[in-house]
Amino acid sequence: MGIWSKKSVASLQAEAAGEEGTHSLKRVLGALNLTTLGIGAIIGAGIFVLTGTAAAQYAGPAIVYSFIVAGLGCLFAGLCYAEFAAMIPIAGSAYTYGYATLGELTAWIIGWDLILEYLFGAATVAVGWSGYFSAFMNELGFRIPVQFTSAPLGIEGTHTLVASQICFDPATNQVIKVATDAVCDTSRYSVAGGVINVPAMFLVGLMTFLLVLGIKESARFNNVIVVVKMAIVLLVIGFGFMYVNSDNWHPFVPENTGTYGQFGWSGIVRGAAVVFFAYIGFDAVSTAAQEAKNPQRDMPIGILGSLAICTVLYILMALVMTGLTSYRNLDVPHPVFVAIDAAGPALSWLTPIINIGAIAGLASVVLVMLMAQPRIFYTMSRDGLLPPVFGKIHPKFRTPYITTILTGAVCAVIAGLFPIGLLGELVSIGTLLAFVIVSAGIIVLRRKSPDIPRPFRTPLVPLVPILAILICGYMMYSLPSDTWIRLIVWLILGLLIYFLYGKAHSRIGSAEASG
Ligand code: ALA
Repeated sequence: MGIWSKKSVASLQAEAAGEEGTHSLKRVLGALNLTTLGIGAIIGAGIFVLTGTAAAQYAGPAIVYSFIVAGLGCLFAGLCYAEFAAMIPIAGSAYTYGYATLGELTAWIIGWDLILEYLFGAATVAVGWSGYFSAFMNELGFRIPVQFTSAPLGIEGTHTLVASQICFDPATNQVIKVATDAVCDTSRYSVAGGVINVPAMFLVGLMTFLLVLGIKESARFNNVIVVVKMAIVLLVIGFGFMYVNSDNWHPFVPENTGTYGQFGWSGIVRGAAVVFFAYIGFDAVSTAAQEAKNPQRDMPIGILGSLAICTVLYILMALVMTGLTSYRNLDVPHPVFVAIDAAGPALSWLTPIINIGAIAGLASVVLVMLMAQPRIFYTMSRDGLLPPVFGKIHPKFRTPYITTILTGAVCAVIAGLFPIGLLGELVSIGTLLAFVIVSAGIIVLRRKSPDIPRPFRTPLVPLVPILAILICGYMMYSLPSDTWIRLIVWLILGLLIYFLYGKAHSRIGSAEASG
């Protein structure tokens, strides 16, 4: 069997049920905490940063339709995750579902691919957080030199990493542009070389510390942040709607410029691939399956509940933002701020609050991503595909502390050194690949083992998984070809590690060899 070996669902269920004592994760999370973990991971840089660019460059007010398309892809994939997470409540999430359905090699590929989603996702959002945080500090009078809020590396062309130059406004301390070929209007702005992104590293360090201390403590902190960010999003939606000028919605679908992806229907699809990033995170709930009190019932609630709430909020938010000002004005790093600012003095009290919403919001995304990653490593280590040290649980805190610290350290280095543009699209393509494989896994397992008890059943199989594969596959197709190349290089690297280490140490592989 070797690389195609599968773990039986029965043995996985026994593994999930048999875990007790100080060497196991602690079952403390209920349905509400799981839902807020999902919302904590979902609402972040996507809505606070990317929506504006996507509306201005690709879809116009029809970015609302892009949110619906991406949301449908996530809903169909989310229904598949819900079936698996309730049936196989193991912290490995998609990696474990792959092991049960498509075999060890595919499982390894998903596990390796999920590093792009969680570890790189946390680094990307930490870099975004650093921008908001530095601007906020500046307003309070604490100026962090731009050299220490920017990455030293930039990308030239599509692949080469070289030293970056930052073009910044000395008056406001704001970075105007980070590029190796920064064309900087030096009569107005100054140029500096990036040294390291200290705030991004600080945030990653802080979240890692919290995650080592305990899942309950982390979930509590996340709950507070989620309440703050949801309140701010609701304020923006509620007050924003009162000042909408419906002229801004005409035409709702701006005419295509003649180039694929620039407005019109193709622009909506391209916009969907960009704003897909905003939905990433609901699947992270499934990595907390071994810490859920009643995973069979609560996993589907956490996954689908958080996704449903955020989809509604996103659609309303997109309507408000494109209704308050022309979509052409939204091509900025802080589009929500610009939209509310356009409403005039009546809403000026809301603008500083938006910054707080973004700072809080992005922090919880980093927290939940950094929670998910070590749990995948933990499960892979217990299957023998990674060294045993990755599977160690802290006897007092009951957290996978070694992997949590390791993940935090690697993430901090990436967040400190790399620019955001290099990371973001890679995170989306990696996540979409996992969604496609998980959806295919549902069809496979329904055929192979139709009778296993399924506490939650994906409706209309195979239609729903097929739709998930088609929509997510199409969004992958819409991402730039460089991103594909980076994904392939990443997967080849993963395969090398599997054949050099994992295959020889695999528990199932050893059991088969000796049996
Ligand atoms: N969905 C998360 C965000 O938008 C990754 O920040």
